[in-house]
Amino acid sequence: MTPETASGTVALAFSGGLDTTVCVSLLKEEYGYDEVVGVTVDVGQPDYEFEEAEETAEALGVEQYVVDAKEDFADLCLKAVKANADYQGYPLGTALARPVIAKAILEVAEQEGCSAVAHGCTGKGNDQLRFESVWRDSELDVIAPVRELGLTREWENEYAQEKGLPVEGGDGGRYSIDTNLWSRSIEGSELEDPSTIPEDDIYKWTENPSGKEAELVEITFEQGEAVAVDGDDLGKVELIEQLNSQAGAHGIGRTDMMEDRMLGLKVRENYEHPAATVLLTAHEALEGLVLTQEERAFKAQVDQEWSQKAYEGLVDAPLVSALEAFVDDTNERVTGTVTVKLEGGHCRPVSRESEYAVYSESAASFDEEDVTGGITQQDATGVAKYHGFQSRLANRILEDAKKGEAVADGGSEATDSANGESED
Ligand code: ARG
Repeated sequence: MTPETASGTVALAFSGGLDTTVCVSLLKEEYGYDEVVGVTVDVGQPDYEFEEAEETAEALGVEQYVVDAKEDFADLCLKAVKANADYQGYPLGTALARPVIAKAILEVAEQEGCSAVAHGCTGKGNDQLRFESVWRDSELDVIAPVRELGLTREWENEYAQEKGLPVEGGDGGRYSIDTNLWSRSIEGSELEDPSTIPEDDIYKWTENPSGKEAELVEITFEQGEAVAVDGDDLGKVELIEQLNSQAGAHGIGRTDMMEDRMLGLKVRENYEHPAATVLLTAHEALEGLVLTQEERAFKAQVDQEWSQKAYEGLVDAPLVSALEAFVDDTNERVTGTVTVKLEGGHCRPVSRESEYAVYSESAASFDEEDVTGGITQQDATGVAKYHGFQSRLANRILEDAKKGEAVADGGSEATDSANGESED
């Protein structure tokens, strides 16, 4: 859809911030839409964001829909825990929220008979791709005014001034903030320079932990899903909210990183995500107890693929459901409890228990002579003799070749010394 040829109603992903406020006006004046409806999707943003969105919508004379998608989002976050999901160390808060938001907006748009859906994302970030991969599965036109008209924040500010648009900026406007249940992201301003050390006040969820006494928290998992904190069964949303405040008080879950965006741009990101850090740490600790070594090794690859697709906003890809079949199968046994210690900005597992533990205390113990089932310590002698045999052999052959010796018939000599015996 090109500017000035559109008609009908367009549903806009609406936060009440500068980008989306400017978009309301542009969608009418530049694109020609008769009506704009704003859709604000609740994925756990703070209350003031909704108040701001509501006030702005009212001031703009825009009909606003608020859709509560917290449960769906919390579901996806806990699914991400089963896949130990992070992208380059970032637990994917924004990335996981986008498909949930996009679907909710599309539903409203279709219900309201809109002819198009629109977002206020730039052409540089990931979110445009995440929204549109959902929306382009529909018949509706997809409009991205900021990207299509090549807008900058400076231009938007001037335009808003000129048009008298209500743009207070609830977060002080200095940074670009994205908050949901799973993480709070802080971008922009002086933080764009990777060498700038952030002021502590960019963080709102994580406190300076100095002087705070350590705390133990027990997380209960059922088939890989967190269901209780310190023995209290909690709903998914509540569980995440509680851990955000409990672990945030210990300064847990800050990430300051360089992130490789989908389009190849590197960006400096600051995140806070206390609950995500606690749950990911605890879940991985329980997997360490109940999965076999080879399952853990293979699952690390599955988890990485899952995380990559989640970063791309493609949690509905067929690959993802195939990966989830593996994740769910292995996680059938991830039932039990993990206690983590929250202390000085760190969270580490200090205890784990499960009826599915692949663990024999007597087999691994220093205090028992035999291993188990008739296996004695002496049985390891043969294994120890063989262990590394091929590496020793290869290294010896390389050494011999370097010395310029004939390797062709020197093989048996190399074999003998690599084996540590005179005969093979
Ligand atoms: N870079 C992150 C992502 O693509 C988060 C971006 C959050 N946006 C913001 N305005 N702070 O998932």
